[in-house]
Amino acid sequence: MAKAVFPGSFDPPTIGHLDVIARAAGAFEELIVAAGVNQSKNRLFSDAERVEMLTELVEPFANVRIATFDGLLVDFCTEQGASVIVKGLRTAADYDYELQMAHLNRRMTGVDTVFLPSAPEHGFISSSWVKEIAKLGGEVSSFVTASVHARLLAKHR
Ligand code: PNS
Repeated sequence: MAKAVFPGSFDPPTIGHLDVIARAAGAFEELIVAAGVNQSKNRLFSDAERVEMLTELVEPFANVRIATFDGLLVDFCTEQGASVIVKGLRTAADYDYELQMAHLNRRMTGVDTVFLPSAPEHGFISSSWVKEIAKLGGEVSSFVTASVHARLLAKHR
């Protein structure tokens, strides 16, 4: 079985991410959840905070570990000896965006991408919307774990 990388901004991680992690952990020998930098997004949480949140999230999974990367995802996969990238897909818009990256990543180093459809009940959850709703005082506790929720509240206190 292959070693896989599940990359993302995880700013913050949501229960949608947790679902993908749980399913990918069952499908691959080893899963590296890698917090990277999306150049087009502003971040709320630092690298250290994102690692802490993710470490708590993956605690139940023996074959999952956390890492950060700040360069190209394909270079990180090569360094780690991972042959597969895992991505969750919520919508057709996700598919269009992710398909282009999957083709580019495969062309660059041969690393393949496996898409997991998000659970239907999580299909509308995104870190960006969770951040905005929390910032404006809305209720986001059903979209993130209790620990992440506490951190979001602390950011906006
Ligand atoms: O959760 P996100 O914001 O959708 O995660 C995006 C991320 C960090 C996985 C993506 O931006 C990424 O892979 N960044 C690393 C830089 C890179 O490899 N860019 C070229 C992609 S073809």
